[in-house]
Amino acid sequence: MGSLLSVCDIKEEVEYIIDLAGQIKEGKKEQRPLEGKTLAMIFQKSSTRTRVSFDVGMYQLGGRAIFLSSNDLQMGRGEPISDTARVLSRFVDGIMIRAIEHDDVIELAKYSDVPVISGLTNLEHPCQALADMLTIKEHFGSFENKKICFVGDGNNVCNSLLLIAPLLGMDMSVTCPEGYEPKEEIVNQALKYADEKNTEITITDDINVALENVDVVYTDVWVSMGDEAEKAQREIDLMPYQVNRELMDLANDEAVFMHCLPAVRGQEVSAEVIDGPQSVVYDQAENRLHAQKAVLYHYMKD
Ligand code: CP
Ligand code: NVA
Repeated sequence: MGSLLSVCDIKEEVEYIIDLAGQIKEGKKEQRPLEGKTLAMIFQKSSTRTRVSFDVGMYQLGGRAIFLSSNDLQMGRGEPISDTARVLSRFVDGIMIRAIEHDDVIELAKYSDVPVISGLTNLEHPCQALADMLTIKEHFGSFENKKICFVGDGNNVCNSLLLIAPLLGMDMSVTCPEGYEPKEEIVNQALKYADEKNTEITITDDINVALENVDVVYTDVWVSMGDEAEKAQREIDLMPYQVNRELMDLANDEAVFMHCLPAVRGQEVSAEVIDGPQSVVYDQAENRLHAQKAVLYHYMKD
């Protein structure tokens, strides 16, 4: 069955998983498909949405989840990731991990006999991207002729959106100051997907160019978990990229505002925008539950 560490891992199944999430949300799938199954959830970083939605999702699917803070695991005292993977595989049916380093998740999956699902690393946030796309599909009805613009720090959330948008046929632009561009390897992969699907990707520091004909304006925090030492400089560099009323007015009239949350009002987004009528951030947060139930169903059902 494999693991979900990157959007690239579900290149072929991405539409199916989003449709499945919609069906699960509407109560159209069987009850308790994961009866008797257990998910181990390893967290090396803080979480509200990911932790609660995976836990509630497993419960609603008939299984259970075990929360494991990496500080409490022997892994936190230096037990190899490979041994952790091999041992957990003897107990549980799936492992969800929020890790500091993406390479550690690759290592965990390499030695695990059960599916590993990433709940965010420094490189990607694939489950967030699935929930975001479910939200866009619900709002607009389809992805056809739709364009998403990510504004601000080209971080893990931006990376996963760059990979998922072309796979679903959406155009995407990223606008950020010099030095805050998404990772080159991700942009190159996204450009390949865009080529295959005949969509467009634009990376620019010019807000006016990026916001042309945009249906979804997306931003995320300027200081991701792990970037705290750069806080002061980031706030200076990224301030011109704040999503405020003026920036929203550059997008289409019917555009929505999205943010994975948690958000810092007055930094990456003004309160007026995130708390205003164009914002769909709480639908997005709710859809983490439905999208992850689809992921759990797909990876853990017999
Ligand atoms: N969006 C998101 O992953 O939120 P948490 O950090 O609260 O899990
Ligand atoms: N980019 C943020 C996302 C949090 C959900 C971070 O990595 O901290």
